[in-house]
Amino acid sequence: MNQDQLSKVALAMVARGKGILAADESNATIKKRFDGIGVESTETTRRDYREFMFRSQAMRENISGVILYDETIRQNAKDGTPLVKLIEAAGALPGIKVDTGAHPMPFFPGETITEGLDGLPKRMAAYYELGARFAKWRAVIRIAGDKPTGGAVRANMQALARYAAICQQANIVPIVEPEVLMDGAHSLERNFEVTRYVLQTLYQELFSHRVFLEGTVLKPNMVVPGEDAAKKATPEEVAAWTLRLFREAVPVAVPGIAFLSGGQDDVEATANLNAINRLGAQPWPITFSYGRALQAAAQKAWSGKEANVAAAQAAFNHRAKMNGLAAMGEWTETAETAV
Ligand code: 13P
Repeated sequence: MNQDQLSKVALAMVARGKGILAADESNATIKKRFDGIGVESTETTRRDYREFMFRSQAMRENISGVILYDETIRQNAKDGTPLVKLIEAAGALPGIKVDTGAHPMPFFPGETITEGLDGLPKRMAAYYELGARFAKWRAVIRIAGDKPTGGAVRANMQALARYAAICQQANIVPIVEPEVLMDGAHSLERNFEVTRYVLQTLYQELFSHRVFLEGTVLKPNMVVPGEDAAKKATPEEVAAWTLRLFREAVPVAVPGIAFLSGGQDDVEATANLNAINRLGAQPWPITFSYGRALQAAAQKAWSGKEANVAAAQAAFNHRAKMNGLAAMGEWTETAETAV
């Protein structure tokens, strides 16, 4: 393990005013997104879609790294240039999703365990050769009734720790993503309690697996009420509870935190990130690693048509720029609506 390299990459991933583009939708997930805009999902349409994002201006200014899916890290642009090279040419880092998804966990009805550890050291070495300098693994925790159970949380955090150690052995920075879902009608306070338990368990496991925390990036959810909750939360409430969560559960050795958007709409995800950063300097840079909240507007503008690429890139640039401002606590409604 090269600790210097891991630290440098982790810090570059959370550089000031920049964040991570999560473009690692599996083929099943991107098909769902394309169905929503009436585009057939083929190897070529998936390539064309990702290519225009990787060639956009935002890549140079507001995107520090891109999380790729296995198909994409091996794909070439229309002119034959590997997509990884386009990302590198923009000064961003290529990354790779390595988990193989959340599957039903035996004896834990309604809960899942994320798979993908078998053969991972070998796959990791191959991804390094393909240019990946960081990776992602997502554990999924659902709040419902008396769930999550301690057993399911521990198993998932242990898998994250095993994955993180395997990454670092291959000189790849692990993004550790324990996502507490927004599904449900639970309160913001219930989300806080569950996410704190999840993060505290995660760091216990990372310590006991001897993971080098300075060479990791945390990708958490924000503390928000369930999407069906009667009581909504203001960005200021989300910010106060989320920072309280981090102070109680995230070691200061962690070089940075980059949120998932998890079903928040575009502007909501930006406003919440901004409110968090408005509360002043914290021990960690706090930025974005959004999938849906960075791409939804661009997808709609593109709708699979070559003639729409410039408009789609403009939509992507705008979203990335707004989130770049929010990562510094400098986003405003005026900036949001300026054309
Ligand atoms: P969302 O921002 O759409 O939640 O995606 C981020 C991600 O990488 C989920 O694993």
